[in-house]
Amino acid sequence: MDRQPLTFFIPTRVVHGLGSVAGVPALVGSSGGTRVFLCADEGLTRAGVTGRVSGLLEAAGIPFVVFDSVEEDPGTRTVHSGVELFKAEGCDLVVALGGGSPLCAGKGIALVAANGGALTDYEGFNKASVGPYPVIAIPTTAGSGTEVSKVTILTDEARGFKMSILDERTFPRVAVLDGELMATLPARPALVAGMDALAHALDALWSVGATSFSDALAVTSAATIFEMLPRAALTGDLAAKQAMLEASSAANIATGTALPGLAHVLSQPLGRYHMSHGLATGIMLPHTFEFNLPVAAHTVAPIARLLGADGSEKELARWLLDRLWELMEEVGFPTSLDPSLVPLADLPILVEQCTKVVNYRLNLRQASPADLTELYMAALEEES
Ligand SMILES: [Fe+2]
Repeated sequence: MDRQPLTFFIPTRVVHGLGSVAGVPALVGSSGGTRVFLCADEGLTRAGVTGRVSGLLEAAGIPFVVFDSVEEDPGTRTVHSGVELFKAEGCDLVVALGGGSPLCAGKGIALVAANGGALTDYEGFNKASVGPYPVIAIPTTAGSGTEVSKVTILTDEARGFKMSILDERTFPRVAVLDGELMATLPARPALVAGMDALAHALDALWSVGATSFSDALAVTSAATIFEMLPRAALTGDLAAKQAMLEASSAANIATGTALPGLAHVLSQPLGRYHMSHGLATGIMLPHTFEFNLPVAAHTVAPIARLLGADGSEKELARWLLDRLWELMEEVGFPTSLDPSLVPLADLPILVEQCTKVVNYRLNLRQASPADLTELYMAALEEES
């Protein structure tokens, strides 16, 4: 039998703990940076989060420039204007601060600034000639996981398409996980990000690419998210926010190793309705769980055990699915697709697009086009 060796690779140094952002100036120095490009968004600047980081750089005497015009789902335009400023200011390191949008924009700017050309030149696998400038990624939401990922997702406006850049050199040099920076994050984005993080953990368990390393991270991070999401998103509990940040990074390392299963496949085509990735993935998650139940009880039973449940693998898996429905109800997360947004007539197009997603065949239980249709139907019929 032809056996492929498996790999677990995560080169990002993860610095974590409440108040850990204070160490950013030292991390800039140890990463070889002398002039910082601080990439954020206007909301973070208004909330004082950008100022907290720039204040630390200022106090340490590290020159920096702030680029906080990153929009939701940024793309080529933002990256190219960021590269122009990066070069004009003679920067040599990116501090990317925020949710998935500023983090991916920062990663894209560091890559294009180092290589030249256009962002679209780097779409796909390992297209860059040299690695990016070093990136210190500081997430302010617990969900995207891009701070510990080799994947950068940015929009090509010309095609209206979210493209992926995959390159092991684009893992950020450092991820700083500080729950204090989530203190001003409103409940809704915190929940959307948190459900995406849970989907990263569960989809990693349901992938045929799962390994002992990805399973270990996925099981513990999923249990933490089940326990902490309501408190982290709906209250000011900083310890819960810290736990969510760490679980989100761990879940993303799991899914980056195993590659994600069906919830992420089903959510991808829903981007056409301008639903956020986290919302679409979260809605499809319990339906995917239900579909996977007959073959995947052994993958999720350990999570139920960590949460204190007892019983056979099948009982534990069913218990965890019920717990997921309860969690979503408790925090007010939608469990159904809005039929006025997603018309039934579109289902053949959505299903067709699912079958073209690269990880379509990675789910433990193979989903036929008829299964995919039923899964969307279930989400359309679910009473939320
Ligand atoms: Fe995701």
